[in-house]
Amino acid sequence: MEKLLIDGGCVLEGEIRVSGAKNAVLPILAATLLADGPMQIANVPHLQDVTTTMELLGRMGVSLTLDEHMNIEVNSGPIKELFAPYEVVKTMRASILVLGPLLARFGEAEVSLPGGCAIGSRPVNLHLHGLEAMGAEIEVRGGYIHAKSKRLKGARLVMDNVTVTGTENLMMAATLAVGTTVIENAAREPEVTDLANCLIKMGAKIEGAGTGKITIQGVDRLHGCQYSVLTDRIETGTFLVATAITGGHVRLKNAQPKFLESILMKLKEAGAKVHCDENWVEIDMCRRRPKSINVCTAPYPAFPTDMQAQFTALNCIAEGSGTITESVFENRFMHIQEMQRMGAKIKVTGNTAITTGVDKLVAAPVMATDLRASASLILAGLIADGQTVVDRIYHIDRGYECIEEKLMQLGASIRRVPH
Ligand code: EPU
Repeated sequence: MEKLLIDGGCVLEGEIRVSGAKNAVLPILAATLLADGPMQIANVPHLQDVTTTMELLGRMGVSLTLDEHMNIEVNSGPIKELFAPYEVVKTMRASILVLGPLLARFGEAEVSLPGGCAIGSRPVNLHLHGLEAMGAEIEVRGGYIHAKSKRLKGARLVMDNVTVTGTENLMMAATLAVGTTVIENAAREPEVTDLANCLIKMGAKIEGAGTGKITIQGVDRLHGCQYSVLTDRIETGTFLVATAITGGHVRLKNAQPKFLESILMKLKEAGAKVHCDENWVEIDMCRRRPKSINVCTAPYPAFPTDMQAQFTALNCIAEGSGTITESVFENRFMHIQEMQRMGAKIKVTGNTAITTGVDKLVAAPVMATDLRASASLILAGLIADGQTVVDRIYHIDRGYECIEEKLMQLGASIRRVPH
């Protein structure tokens, strides 16, 4: 198993390009199952989760071609199996996103129920209730979701909880249903809107994406199209925090700052100077130590849970005390124990972490437990005295394209070594 070695103490400076968004490309790849012609997807990030999704679609018989620029052409024409096996789903929960499209287009699907997860229990009950309300017959048997339906029917779906992939699954299913579906309390994340934009380009009739009420009028068929994936706001945010904690000055190209409001607000509170235009963002910390911030995670447009661990790393070395409250997932503090091993002063009470900034973290061997936790440990390594060794970095490759190359480009001392 590979590890990352990070020598702390650098100041990040320079310019890098942000990649396509993991959480947009995964539902868009699932949406290709709805098209009755080939789709060309551009700005696809080179990520393990993309490879896993391609493997999942490939096993179903879907044809996929990848060029050297990571543009993917997908043709679901040759599909022969409407099946998502446990061995794939257990490695990537987003595999559940094939359920809605398979059921809507082919009237049948067998998808493994995702198992436990490092950040919380993460049930899929709302996906299933929504599909049942649209007329699907669903049975969970032997660890698998067996779903069947004649053509799905439009329905009014009031979601108990804001769920990102739940909203995406139901929106995709509704595109080919008879009649109108209304999703109330829908997720407003930019990745949901990006999926809706792609579906609209495929011929779907969708209004209200990006708001809490999405209305989908079913159509008889969707066609292929060309679509370029949104850029990754969490990757952008991660590099912004990495720069802030090292006191650096970095410009991120191909970023979309309009989706970063809550993150930029917290960085400004921490003392960063931030400039941006439509497709770039620049942060300058002027070699100063950040100030501690208080955050509480919640669905978009509030502060994202996917940035919680990175801001915890920032608070570890910031001036003063801060509180970090995680309200989306029940178990997303696994990075904290690792940070404590690096000398961080953090006290956890319920779902709140109270941090008191220290002057320096001290390098230690640490272990990543999920994607964003891994990112936060790399950030902690950048500012620790000595060499931090981050183990189990396969998590990072699921969601960050070339993270060590990008950090090296900004002056970090980081390298990957085999076990
Ligand atoms: N929930 C339910 N029932 C459901 C679905 C969700 O109770 O049927 C609960 C969850 O347990 C959780 C809350 O609703 O407490 C929100 O979960 P959500 O369904 O929104 O999460 P998700 O769709 O599984 C996506 C991202 C996550 C991100 C969350 C929250 C993708 C592929 N994944 O997950 O991304 O943290 O939304 O924004 O879009 C990551 O990129 O590191 C990551 C974990």
